[in-house]
Amino acid sequence: MSAVLIDGKALSARKREEIKKKCEIFEQEYGRKICLAVVLVGNDPASEVYVRNKIRGCEATDIRSLSFTLPQTASQNDVEQLICALSADESVDGILVQLPLPKGLDEDRILNLIPPEKDVDGFHPVNVGKLLLGKETIVACTPMGVMTMLRDNDISVAGKNAVVIGRSNIVGKPMAMLLLRDHATVTICHSRTKNLKEICKNADILVAAIGKPEFVTADMVKDGAVVIDVGINRVNGKLKGDVDFDSVKEKASYITPVPGGVGPMTITTLLENTYLCGVRRERAKS
Ligand code: GUN
Repeated sequence: MSAVLIDGKALSARKREEIKKKCEIFEQEYGRKICLAVVLVGNDPASEVYVRNKIRGCEATDIRSLSFTLPQTASQNDVEQLICALSADESVDGILVQLPLPKGLDEDRILNLIPPEKDVDGFHPVNVGKLLLGKETIVACTPMGVMTMLRDNDISVAGKNAVVIGRSNIVGKPMAMLLLRDHATVTICHSRTKNLKEICKNADILVAAIGKPEFVTADMVKDGAVVIDVGINRVNGKLKGDVDFDSVKEKASYITPVPGGVGPMTITTLLENTYLCGVRRERAKS
């Protein structure tokens, strides 16, 4: 049996149409556009590509974008002053600081300066805490995009064994919390996990977010499992996921490809989060 492909590109295109319509209605209602400020510090090539794609996503969905690029040599104070100015700017709905920041900058201090109501990445401790408590909040884009993909394919989560490989703050931890919020039985695996293969083999839903190319092989996957590949690894100039796609697709019931799976949904979820921040900020005024 060959798995059904979860097409993140097609879903992303559909979602962007929906977001664009919602942003147009927002503008009619409130007389201004939703606005996202994107901050890039330094010249990491991968970050430059991500930021460019985020700005393009804004253009496609009628979101106003402000782009700020600070030099590699920017001081902690330079970055903090910019964040404070954007925090105070009433026309800005969302603030995104592209990670990683250059060495020497205090990432926590910078991220904590973004007001939770403008935190489109869902990285602020207040938003992370709300997620942990199972409350509605802005959630990190990649795991939220994965949940949208599951829902769009009518894949129910409640009562399933979900295994997340990876415990990063950006993907693994919020992914586990979202699956738990939707009533899955969740196991988080990481580099020190013993019996990783046995644990993965028990997964009805397996999410790979470890950053190791083709780490998940067919012998780690249960027949009929849903396999979500969050990996983006560059190998000899080609993009590879964390899952050995060719062998695993013969065992899984659903699988996401790389590229064209989770990746496109991440930026689309950022646009959705920006819209949500805009609406919530306006509603909080009335
Ligand atoms: N760097 C890698 N992923 C992300 C993300 O989701 N948001 C931000 N701000 N930086 C990142």
